Amino acid sequence: MELELVIEKLSSDGKGIAHHDGAVVFVDKVCPQDKIKAKIVKQNKSFWIGELVEILEKSPHRVKPFCPMHNVCGACNLQFIDYDYQLECKKEMVKDAFRGTDIEVKDVIPSPQIKEYRHKIQYPIRQTQVSKRILAGYFKPKSHDIVNIKYCPIQPAICDEIIDFVRETAPMYGIEGYDEKNHKGLLRHVVIRSSAKTGDNLVILVINSNKPNEKVKDFALKLYDRFDKVTGIGVNINNKQTNLIMSDKTIILYGKEYIEEDLCEVTFKIGANTFFQVNPKSAENIFKYVKNHIKSNYNTPKILDAYAGISAFGLVMADIAGKVVSVEENKASVDLAKEVAAANRIKNIELHCEDSEKFFEEISENTFDITILDPPRKGCTEKTLEYALKLTKSQIIYVSCNPSTLARDLKYLTEHGGTVKFVQPFDMFCHTNHIENVAIISLPS
Ligand SMILES: C[S@@+](CC[C@H](N)C(=O)[O-])C[C@H]1O[C@@H](n2cnc3c(N)ncnc32)[C@H](O)[C@@H]1O
Repeated sequence: MELELVIEKLSSDGKGIAHHDGAVVFVDKVCPQDKIKAKIVKQNKSFWIGELVEILEKSPHRVKPFCPMHNVCGACNLQFIDYDYQLECKKEMVKDAFRGTDIEVKDVIPSPQIKEYRHKIQYPIRQTQVSKRILAGYFKPKSHDIVNIKYCPIQPAICDEIIDFVRETAPMYGIEGYDEKNHKGLLRHVVIRSSAKTGDNLVILVINSNKPNEKVKDFALKLYDRFDKVTGIGVNINNKQTNLIMSDKTIILYGKEYIEEDLCEVTFKIGANTFFQVNPKSAENIFKYVKNHIKSNYNTPKILDAYAGISAFGLVMADIAGKVVSVEENKASVDLAKEVAAANRIKNIELHCEDSEKFFEEISENTFDITILDPPRKGCTEKTLEYALKLTKSQIIYVSCNPSTLARDLKYLTEHGGTVKFVQPFDMFCHTNHIENVAIISLPS
């Protein structure tokens, strides 16, 4: 069946939404205000799936995609929509997540940079069957077929050069790309952490082996010598049949084990296995926003920074806090946070390596003025939220990259006495359907 549809808005995963005969229809690669012809390929009780056949009238918000690979690579799925309108669509997505509540969603704060903004690159590596050429790039949508990307406009140009070097030179060292089906071949991924501050790059070769052999070491040295701005190179040992990109075992072969990044006048160290926001300039907007909020409402508060990573929030807030306590389960991150605290002479911070829920359970009631929660996409456990409510006197600041788990967790907090005034979205992942949010929750005194 083919239908004429007018696209009304975007779903949280970036699909166009239209209505027909009371059914919701989802269509990929369309823009709100497009009038289209779509073929219905699936009909469920509550929703239908359509495939774009033809655009009958273009939305005024369509623009020419800036990337030559846009038709095959699914990474920047909103790049055919003008940037200002992307932000409006993202605001609507967040509002949809909070439908049925009176929570105000503010306008999205744009990313200061919308090209070359992404400073963490993780390319899967494969090999062609016959000619044994190395392929490196992102997977095509809904598949594990690689789009061999030579140029990616959203990451620093040097990353393309490094990847090209891997493509051309690795075979000369007898290094084979990974074969997922047979779990054979050495090189699984190349991960690059690139510094927006210095332009330095830490390159990690993820290998399907229990240790780096001589070929890998020689190749790594060649790559390290070739680029002045590759300041560190290592291998990550990942010989399991898993979808996880990296294990927690990284061995640095040459150079430094971290890059540096500045946030609000604190210099951070970012290692291979540590979390850091992929868009450092947009991240700085979030840190400034949270810091201004705390500074204008509190005098030397006691702050709990949970899911702390390298304790970016804790260390940035330390100069306006009486005391900061950070908790993070990844040891490599906590170790780097300790180094940064010492180098910046920050003394009023305690850094704990533990599961947040367990740590919260151990501390007593009404201990902190403010608790910052910044969990991974799956959000917090109910127990963590229950404990957070007990040990926080005044406000919880919840930072989230997933509007649906944020909405779930805010529902719990509001049902247990919290009041959410508004949610402030930040565009951290330009040209994609992803969005970062900060919610401030006041607690009864
Ligand atoms: C979204 S990141 C936020 C990091 C940090 N706040 C920042 O802005 O850089 C989430 C962090 O939570 C950590 N994490 C995940 N589950 C955890 C848990 N149950 N307890 C403590 N930390 C956890 C991860 O290792 C990761 O560093």
